[in-house]
Amino acid sequence: MNNKRFYIETYGCQMNFADSEIVNSILIDEGMTPVHEAGEADVIFVNTCSIRENAETRVWNRLKEFRSLKNGKKNLTVGVLGCMAERVREQIIDQEQLVDIVVGPDAYRDIPNLLAEVDDGRKAVNVLLSLEETYADISPVRTSGNGVTAFVSIMRGCDNMCSFCVVPFTRGRERSRPLESILREIQQLSDQGYKEVTLLGQNVNSYKYRDIDFTRLMDEASKTDPEMRFRFSSPHPKDFPEPLLHLIAERPNLCNYIHIPAQSGSSSMLERMRRPYTREQYLELIEKMKSIIPGVALSTDIIAGFCDETEEEHQDTMTLMEMVEYDLAYMFAYSERERTLAHRKYDDNVPEDVKKRRLTEIIQQQMAIQEKNNKKEIGSRHLVLVEGESKRSDQQLSGRTDTNKMVVFDRKEYQKGDYIEVEITGCTSATLMARPLKKRSISEYHAEPALV
Ligand code: SAH
Ligand code: SF4
Ligand code: F3S
Repeated sequence: MNNKRFYIETYGCQMNFADSEIVNSILIDEGMTPVHEAGEADVIFVNTCSIRENAETRVWNRLKEFRSLKNGKKNLTVGVLGCMAERVREQIIDQEQLVDIVVGPDAYRDIPNLLAEVDDGRKAVNVLLSLEETYADISPVRTSGNGVTAFVSIMRGCDNMCSFCVVPFTRGRERSRPLESILREIQQLSDQGYKEVTLLGQNVNSYKYRDIDFTRLMDEASKTDPEMRFRFSSPHPKDFPEPLLHLIAERPNLCNYIHIPAQSGSSSMLERMRRPYTREQYLELIEKMKSIIPGVALSTDIIAGFCDETEEEHQDTMTLMEMVEYDLAYMFAYSERERTLAHRKYDDNVPEDVKKRRLTEIIQQQMAIQEKNNKKEIGSRHLVLVEGESKRSDQQLSGRTDTNKMVVFDRKEYQKGDYIEVEITGCTSATLMARPLKKRSISEYHAEPALV
């Protein structure tokens, strides 16, 4: 047993946040105590992200800050977890002397042994990737979070090898978590009062466990608790299952919101990106989503300035985004990553100022689209799940619609975890303002949506 205090700081995607909860569970089982300030900890872990250069830069800077903390505090252990582990393990330990432990995303069960090695005065590393590890039997411990919404990881790794992306190298091969262990975790969350679960994987529609595919998983998951809402992230446009669209349309607790990353609106660019769909196929999928699920909200990821991007290809992205009218978009300038196909075979040849200008155009257009979409919401009704107090005032609550839009309204007698029917009264490009009408349940709301 180990009675040290630990602190975990997490960067990167939702999957990394879910992983930190697994590490939490492993350390608490060892007898260690989680703390919320780095300064109070005996062991500091940074769960890292490699997706773009600036993500790594932030982590390096943070590690340097922790090194100065180490100078003032003997016996402070600093560890690196996650996606940067493999890539920079040698630099971390040999050259920079910043950290004592490096643990890759599939080696978290080994952390107690690695900590013991450090106590014996050694540096400890395990960056082995696994073909099987899904941490299926570990119940994540959610020490941060709002107690209302939770992430549940359903698969790990990625086999898609998009030419720009480092994830297949940092996280290894794709593998799916057994259905029973996913359903067990969802049931536990429901018993603890959680009201919303997002199922996570780098490529969720590749989920495959025995004869169970992703649509069947969503079907089973949503039946565990009809008053719990379900989302998922991220699916890949190349093989999005149409039966899932019908299931979402029929099932009240499957949210009418799909994050469906396009990356680019140009077929020639998509080919260079090794995304096996064309602009036309993508738009066809979007049309299906909109016609099968009326009112569906859509979001995307876009990369500006990938290798050899022409002005025309950039314009194709602009027009695609204009046609789809996304409710939300995550937009990035291309950042070259070692080991990817693009790094080995292509030239990162779009000048920085051009990348920036294109990204700015994409962002500005998207902000205008969001504002327009949000204005259309004024006067409409939504069922909002309250996640907590609004950032600006404790007299206001905030939560999300089924379509994933953030809504703020007066607190009245309502509480975190309630489903409230609201009428939208105003908006910005990012938030809706509303008048709360009544506390309701999902099933009741769907049986009789327009409350008078
Ligand atoms: N598995 C998810 C994406 C995970 S990474 C999916 O395929 O949808 C999140 C996003 O980061 C990607 O969708 C992509 O838009 C962006 N991204 C990945 N590699 C990048 C790079 N080298 N430069 C800039 N953005 C990148
Ligand atoms: Fe990266 Fe593509 Fe896998 Fe997403 S699908 S994680 S972008 S390789
Ligand atoms: Fe980053 Fe790894 Fe996620 S590289 S985006 S933390 S899978």
